[in-house]
Amino acid sequence: QSNMSNQTLKIVVCRDLGPDVMPLFYERPELDIVTWPHDRPCERAWMLENVPGATGIVVVFGEPVNQEVIDLAGPSLKVVSTMSVGYDHIDLAALKARGIRAGYTPDVLTDAVADLAIMLALMAGRNGSETIDLVQTGQWPQYSWSPYGFCGPQLSAPSAFLSSLTPNVQSQRTAGFIGFGRIGQATLARLVPFGITDVVYYTNPANDSDPKAIERFAKLEEELCKRHPSLKSIFRVSKAELAKQSDVVFVLAPGGPATRHVVDEEFLKEMRRTAVLVNASRGTLVDSDALAKALKEKWLWAAGVDVVEGEPKVGSDHVLVKEPRCTVLPHIGSATLETRLGMATLAAKNLIAGVFNEQMPMELK
Ligand code: DGY
Repeated sequence: QSNMSNQTLKIVVCRDLGPDVMPLFYERPELDIVTWPHDRPCERAWMLENVPGATGIVVVFGEPVNQEVIDLAGPSLKVVSTMSVGYDHIDLAALKARGIRAGYTPDVLTDAVADLAIMLALMAGRNGSETIDLVQTGQWPQYSWSPYGFCGPQLSAPSAFLSSLTPNVQSQRTAGFIGFGRIGQATLARLVPFGITDVVYYTNPANDSDPKAIERFAKLEEELCKRHPSLKSIFRVSKAELAKQSDVVFVLAPGGPATRHVVDEEFLKEMRRTAVLVNASRGTLVDSDALAKALKEKWLWAAGVDVVEGEPKVGSDHVLVKEPRCTVLPHIGSATLETRLGMATLAAKNLIAGVFNEQMPMELK
């Protein structure tokens, strides 16, 4: 729909941002807003048909802004705003080459995604998918309570009393993070009250030889130890070490070619048999076939994934959906009422600031 104004600043909004946010655009008479009119993903053909002459484009995750879009938009394009923290769907280099600004929505979703990461760790470890399915398909009557029925590894560190009863219960817990940015650190904050005392993390190996990056990590470790006095250790380690040491591994790094299949067969083979893997970042980071194989062959206990490579084309016959020890969610990490409203507002504000040459609240540099 277009507001049919005679202004020249055309803004293409590839997803309706809702009644609380769209007025931010409508109240600016200089803007001519063209919005994808359906409550389903914007069709590429519609986007390509509408971008010529646009000054701004608003997209969500999964709507690629590449050279084709930039060329079609033409010289009027000043800003692209995505309602997401991830920007692997945006060709940032191509935007920069043309001096086009880009906005994104970090920080507002950190808590929601960290919450979900914990939920997935719990769901996966405690056999959530399998047991919910059993109840929903009416099979509970066939399963009376049994001493070791549906047991899974405990996320929280067993208490001193519990571990004093038998040498087979370890009280120490290590959490591993592949990518350790805002969301990883917020996930750690939630794990500390679970009694997690040790942390290992893995980041881009390009940092290994960068003294500034190494200094930054040292500072971060010091700061986290101060913030969480019960932490006993926190180390940046190799991927193989992380796999070996972690009771739970959180994959929370950006997508893109550099991180594709960072969790592969080799990594999964090194994991602890009782460990849980959580991916709440991008599906491309985990090799789905390798994970399905690893779960079948019990190289790890279970996995919880909010993202899957190739999504949303993930049917009930997908290798991970078919694995009883894999909890699969349809990319809902940031889907709280509060967070999505915040993301949409930020996306609109970024766009408007970009169009009017103002400081964007969250600009991708
Ligand atoms: C993001 O913001 O990048 C998420 O993946 C979408 O919620």
